[in-house]
Amino acid sequence: MSGFDPAWLALREPADHAARSRRIEGIVRAHFAGRNSLTIVDLGCGTGSNLRALASSLPPRQHWHLVDGDTVLLKEARRSLTGWADSARETEHEVALDKDGYRIRVSFECADLTMRDLHFSDIAPDLVTAAALLDLVSLEWLERLVMASARRRASLYAVLNYDGGARWRPEAPLDARIVAAFNRHQRRDKGFGPALGPIASDAFSALLAQHGYRSWQGDSPWQLGTGDRSLVAALNAGFATAAAEIEPTLADAFATWARERIDAEEVTISHKDVFGAI
Ligand SMILES: C[S@@+](CC[C@H](N)C(=O)[O-])C[C@H]1O[C@@H](n2cnc3c(N)ncnc32)[C@H](O)[C@@H]1O
Repeated sequence: MSGFDPAWLALREPADHAARSRRIEGIVRAHFAGRNSLTIVDLGCGTGSNLRALASSLPPRQHWHLVDGDTVLLKEARRSLTGWADSARETEHEVALDKDGYRIRVSFECADLTMRDLHFSDIAPDLVTAAALLDLVSLEWLERLVMASARRRASLYAVLNYDGGARWRPEAPLDARIVAAFNRHQRRDKGFGPALGPIASDAFSALLAQHGYRSWQGDSPWQLGTGDRSLVAALNAGFATAAAEIEPTLADAFATWARERIDAEEVTISHKDVFGAI
């Protein structure tokens, strides 16, 4: 288990899909328009949310290679993608999906991305993508990914990278303290070395430029309201737990904050999407 609960990923999926930058998605769509088929690697795929969001913007025949370190999530990805499709044919290692006229072959790989060869020579992707992953990784790992992708001339598309902005309305006295502590926690090692956290998108854009890519960046904020109480409750709890690891003496105050702030009228969590083409 990676610590990413399938229930949490399911809870956030509608907000993730609504948040994705339509402008950047349009650039991705236009970039691959005219192609009949595309091979895509999805890093840290979780339960397959990125495929479900992106497939309809890509050419009609797709091969997605889903990579994650968590076998429970990969199993759930196979199950939920099969349910999402109009029809599915399963073999031991792959599923072939038909969805709204798209033919999507999906293969699955359980691998630790800190150890895996990032060239993906075995898959030969046209596009390497990741959702809600880059804020977890280190600069050193991200540079390896960009270098390996540049060598293969693969496009890169990373969505929903948290950028440090979080706002609850109406405001409360502890909000700023929690966000500051949470953002410090975001820079801690999440398995890849010191994490980029809120600077992930800017670091990624800089690396793309250094390695010969043209790149585009757009905002993809979660904009939550009173109808999103379950997600806000889980989000608040996550903020409070991480913040308490930075400021243990405030753990009780943060826990109380998390419960009280479920009633916020608006919650905005800022993310960025970045596409790079070479
Ligand atoms: C925040 S979740 C995002 C999941 C999915 N992309 C989505 O948008 O719902 C991060 C994912 O990265 C995976 N992950 C984290 N560290 C990893 C590593 N070192 N190797 C492989 N996968 C990893 C986790 O298992 C998890 O599925």
